[in-house]
Amino acid sequence: MCGIVCYNGKKSAVEVILNGLKSLEYRGYDSSGISVVTDKIETLKRKGKLKNLIDEIDKIDNNANIGIGHIRWATHGEPNEINAHPQVSQDGKFSVVHNGIIENYRELKSELEDEGYNFKSTTDTEVVVALISHYYTDDLLEAVKKAIARLKGAYALGIISEYEKDKLIAVRNESPLILAKCDDGIILASDIPSVLKYTKDVVYLENGDIVEIDKDSYTIYDKNFEKVDRDIKKINMTLEQASKGGFEHFMLKEIYEQPEVVKKTLEVNLKENKIDFSDNSIDQDKLKSIDKVYIVACGTAFHAGEVGKVAIEKLAKIPVITDIASEFRYNDPFIDENTLVILISQSGETADTLAALRESKKKKATVLAVTNVVGSSIAREADKVIYTLAGPEIAVASTKAYISQLVTVIMLALDFAKKLDKIDDETYSNYIAELKTIPGKISEVLKSESTVKEIAKAIKDDSSMFFIGRGLDFLSVKEGALKLKEISYIHTEAFPAGELKHGSIALIEKNTPALSVITQSKLAEKTISNVQELVTRGAKIFTITVEGNENMADFSEKIVFVPKTLEMLYPILSVIPEQLLGYYTSLEKGLDVDKPRNLAKSVTVE
Ligand code: G6P
Repeated sequence: MCGIVCYNGKKSAVEVILNGLKSLEYRGYDSSGISVVTDKIETLKRKGKLKNLIDEIDKIDNNANIGIGHIRWATHGEPNEINAHPQVSQDGKFSVVHNGIIENYRELKSELEDEGYNFKSTTDTEVVVALISHYYTDDLLEAVKKAIARLKGAYALGIISEYEKDKLIAVRNESPLILAKCDDGIILASDIPSVLKYTKDVVYLENGDIVEIDKDSYTIYDKNFEKVDRDIKKINMTLEQASKGGFEHFMLKEIYEQPEVVKKTLEVNLKENKIDFSDNSIDQDKLKSIDKVYIVACGTAFHAGEVGKVAIEKLAKIPVITDIASEFRYNDPFIDENTLVILISQSGETADTLAALRESKKKKATVLAVTNVVGSSIAREADKVIYTLAGPEIAVASTKAYISQLVTVIMLALDFAKKLDKIDDETYSNYIAELKTIPGKISEVLKSESTVKEIAKAIKDDSSMFFIGRGLDFLSVKEGALKLKEISYIHTEAFPAGELKHGSIALIEKNTPALSVITQSKLAEKTISNVQELVTRGAKIFTITVEGNENMADFSEKIVFVPKTLEMLYPILSVIPEQLLGYYTSLEKGLDVDKPRNLAKSVTVE
């Protein structure tokens, strides 16, 4: 998620914008930039920390009163100065900052190139400023209207032009944008923390809104270009609360962002109901030469990889071996030029995963990275990269990055299956249709929060907990067990339900807690039998299962239901209550949820 701060008023635009951007630094970003209007547009952009921009801020006019600023978390194009925002038109007369993704930027780009436009960056944003400059005759607002009529996707935009030096225009479509009214000007920002230093009076812009700001007045037009009044609301949050989007912790905020993350992943990677990773995926010819796939990762990313194995084997019928990155290199893996190695990493910097990548390339495998960070080491060194679209993840315990990895690897499996002709059209379409329902179904599961809180209360004083499931449910409980142990410090172990009786059941005694996940219809009866074995020995059972499955009512202290979906997609739903369980147990125990002891968000040592 990038951040936008724009200002038009009587103060120094540089001061207001930099203060606003500083308040978003905690989220992580890879570059920043600012444009102001003086007698021309002056722009400064720097890669890396905001400090790099601040150190050279004297290069632009500090006295300018209109400006647009941005911190970028790259989604299209490497994080560098050219791709940083603002994006300026080729004639230097217009400047734009953008949050969101322009889905049809490739078509627009080639159309404008055919007319002779010279693009400098690899961003989707540059087409926006190119379009505005293309349509401009003598009215900036008119040019913006024409430009946005051509855009598909999500965008919040801040726009200035040398031709209309007193004007700042902003547009909101899907990506958040607020208008904040100060004594001596107007701030437009993507996030509340950016305005709190100056005002508590904000207007939450609606989808389709265009705002035209002159020095001391503003006009809002709705999606039909009719003038509208929007209420000014008072913000009652502290800076810290606002940074967390009103949630108590980043982890909870990120859990609640998951429907949006899935929606975005689908929007970007589906074209006319077909999966389209463009040339970031493996092409058909190459895929035909692949005789096996390795999926290699660490921690939560490895758990996503295990689901990926099931999906690729089931749908694309290619054998898949999964391996923990720190083990992979020393296992002397069977790799040659017919092997595809898929590396999954939220940060793209995990040392073990990077080492596995280098080992794979040495052995001539094709390497595909699935990562959340554009321009990370893993992204740079892989042959192909598919970016997950979770946005910056701050809590150490990974949640939304995991969900984005799950959806991406399942889509990748469908992409392979289609290219290899291993899936019929009906099954393929069913998957796409069902994937589109997942954001709504995650929101449904989130409503189980109160039941999960009760489970958290019931287990908070236990020293150990079992997690059981079969098939994909076993993979779900592995992630659930990791979530609980890493932030609540309760020892957890995940088991394939049928394996317990081969030793570990000896540990079950009266009131030992166990969580069972039962979503796979063919395996449900078997898991229920295993649950009964635990009940007989006194375990207290909690269950996550599919709505309508009342079989567990007699055995479970608490049940969380998830909506029905395709068997392959249940891990996306069943993990949600497990994430909430980790969160609420940690909270019950008064622990540092977002920064658990001994753990780091990105592990760059082997
Ligand atoms: C650390 C994090 C985990 C993460 C793992 C892999 O241990 O605490 O949440 O799953 O690294 O990180 P990656 O960035 O490669 O996904």
